Amino acid sequence: MLILAFWNSPALARVDGKIVVGFSQIGAESAWRVANTKSVREAAERAGVTLILSDAQQKQENQIKAVKKFILQKVDVIVIAPVVSTGWEEVLLAAKEANIPVILVDREVKDMNSGLFVSFIGADFYEEGRRAALCLIDQSRKLKITGKIKIIELRGTVGSSPSILRNKGFTDVIAKNPQFRIVRSEVGDFKESIGKEWMQKIVASMPKPGSFNAVFAHNDNMALGAISAMDAAGLKPGRDIVVVSVDGIDQAFVAMRAGKLNCSVECSPLLGPQLMDAVQTLMSGGSISKLIITKAGVFPAEAASKYVGQRPY
Ligand code: AHR
Repeated sequence: MLILAFWNSPALARVDGKIVVGFSQIGAESAWRVANTKSVREAAERAGVTLILSDAQQKQENQIKAVKKFILQKVDVIVIAPVVSTGWEEVLLAAKEANIPVILVDREVKDMNSGLFVSFIGADFYEEGRRAALCLIDQSRKLKITGKIKIIELRGTVGSSPSILRNKGFTDVIAKNPQFRIVRSEVGDFKESIGKEWMQKIVASMPKPGSFNAVFAHNDNMALGAISAMDAAGLKPGRDIVVVSVDGIDQAFVAMRAGKLNCSVECSPLLGPQLMDAVQTLMSGGSISKLIITKAGVFPAEAASKYVGQRPY
């Protein structure tokens, strides 16, 4: 019994009184996520913070297990990128009762007014959805696509805050523009391979020219997958079909320069420095804002060329 209890509560090897942060990361579903993990790792190293990184492989149950383990390890701060927005109350309460502050990074939880976390650091996903819609409208005019604009939406992970809020921001804008309509919406889980698979199925089931003439993908990787499926089917993404997505990864700029992607709305994954600043402020007894929203831009294809190879992610 005693041995089991010890095994379940591994003693933490603290080095020289360094701050210890337990970070439950979602996984590695996209270039954005890989860049985000790298940013947090590097910022922790620079700040002299010991980072315990746990990869949840897209599963909330793994994140909850990781957070429980961080509590047993008595880390100084817990950081979570919540894969979905619901189902966090119990484990957040456990962290609060253990007096361990929690910072949410990248993704939101449903109750953003809850006192169960100290700060959220990330983007305004609703605004990103709005910007994507405005860019899609603008780009379809530039391409002189007239008549009804029939949009295919490729959504991110079901129940995740970027998927919910980007959809809401996007649909709120197009609701005011009756020429634009979503004709099909599928879940691509933020993965390039699934974006491609969906587009292969869509092209096969909607073969009539003009059945759709726009794509809104909730991230660049899904757009890139969809573009490769449209290319293979002999369609002309970027010219006959307006394609917009979110993130601003370097590969999206390559696709924009090649004329296949029309717009990428930026969402920065480089949250590590702000996160480590927040951790250090907290640990030195300072207070941090409840909401730290990152700044970002919008990149239409015509401005893309000069950024290829210059993007930090
Ligand atoms: O939560 C941010 C989203 O997650 C990014 O847009 C997407 O690429 C990532 O997987």
